[in-house]
Amino acid sequence: MSTGLPRDAARLAAARAGLAAARDARAAPPGPDVETLRTAYLDVLKLCLCDLGGTSTVSVGAMPDGTVSSRELAGYELQLRAAGMDWPLQGLTMTGLARLDDLQACVESVVEDGVEGDLIEAGAWRGGASILMRATLDSAGQTDRTVWVADSFRGFPAGDGGGVDWSAFDFLAVPVDEVRDNFARFGCEHGVRFIPGFFEETLPGLSPERWAVVRLDGDTYDATKVALRSLYSGLSVGGYLIVDDYGAFDECRRAVDEFRRENAIAEPLEAVDWTCVRWRRGADASPASETETEAETATAEQAAFTGDPDGSRPRVPTARELELGRELAEARELLAAAHVRRGALRRLTLGALLDRMGDRIRWRAR
Ligand SMILES: C[S@@+](CC[C@H](N)C(=O)[O-])C[C@H]1O[C@@H](n2cnc3c(N)ncnc32)[C@H](O)[C@@H]1O
Repeated sequence: MSTGLPRDAARLAAARAGLAAARDARAAPPGPDVETLRTAYLDVLKLCLCDLGGTSTVSVGAMPDGTVSSRELAGYELQLRAAGMDWPLQGLTMTGLARLDDLQACVESVVEDGVEGDLIEAGAWRGGASILMRATLDSAGQTDRTVWVADSFRGFPAGDGGGVDWSAFDFLAVPVDEVRDNFARFGCEHGVRFIPGFFEETLPGLSPERWAVVRLDGDTYDATKVALRSLYSGLSVGGYLIVDDYGAFDECRRAVDEFRRENAIAEPLEAVDWTCVRWRRGADASPASETETEAETATAEQAAFTGDPDGSRPRVPTARELELGRELAEARELLAAAHVRRGALRRLTLGALLDRMGDRIRWRAR
């Protein structure tokens, strides 16, 4: 979520670069073959979800006291919406086109690679990004996976926003029935589970579930941390963990960095656009040394957020790379087991030697 261009210099530069990198609000042309039609359908859907199908759109500006005001965006100003930098008055998502493109690519990738699990968004607002997940699954014939939509459906909890009281914004509180209607309007109401309530109460109960895509968009430290703690253990190898607000909010970034450090997560963070990052879960490696992991994590984070995200297009690993990752993890496991066996053998040999010495001492003493 963003409330327009940020004020501090580094972030302003990153946002400017993000704005310049925003892609055109255009759909791929339709054609008679199924794949071309599927691509065109999803492109048109993304324009609709962002309310970018017309010549202008209406944006909502936020004041610190919770009041909001609207203004029309037209011409080059539409870039703000395409870059996911404003709150749409009528649109169903504030994520912008690059994040939606990437979300679609992640869903297609888990389908193609047969990564097990459902998809979840924690922090859905009007549901636009989750609608895209459902539509992408349906267009790929994946009707057996469920899209879980977790939100309070009444906005932010009080006093949770590191300096900003987001709970003051009624604009961010969208009732679940309204979100359900949004899914239905696009024919996407089947295979969806709504999880109403504050994350602290609802998400820990989802720990046993298996996920292929986890999308976090709750903005604050608490929302991000509880979501990571509750959902990451269920993310399949090859699944994606997406964080919408890593670049936009310090406290969201702090929650992610802390969690990655605490859990020795070494997979690199990849920048999706000026704020969003993601990583793809690899096979669990034997825990690296703390210094090594911290250094790797810091480098990856620096690479992802240098304030100049253009040029670093999100990259989805190939099935071969995933397979190599799995083989590497298996080799590491074998190596670890060999170390354990060697230790046991040493203890055995030492034990036998001591026994023999004991025998000799006893024999001499006779
Ligand atoms: C930025 S909006 C999500 C934007 C949305 N993903 C989109 O596509 O436009 C943040 C959402 O997180 C929800 N939220 C924030 N903190 C929460 C919490 N602790 N528990 C439940 N929902 C929360 C809010 O109700 C709001 O709908």
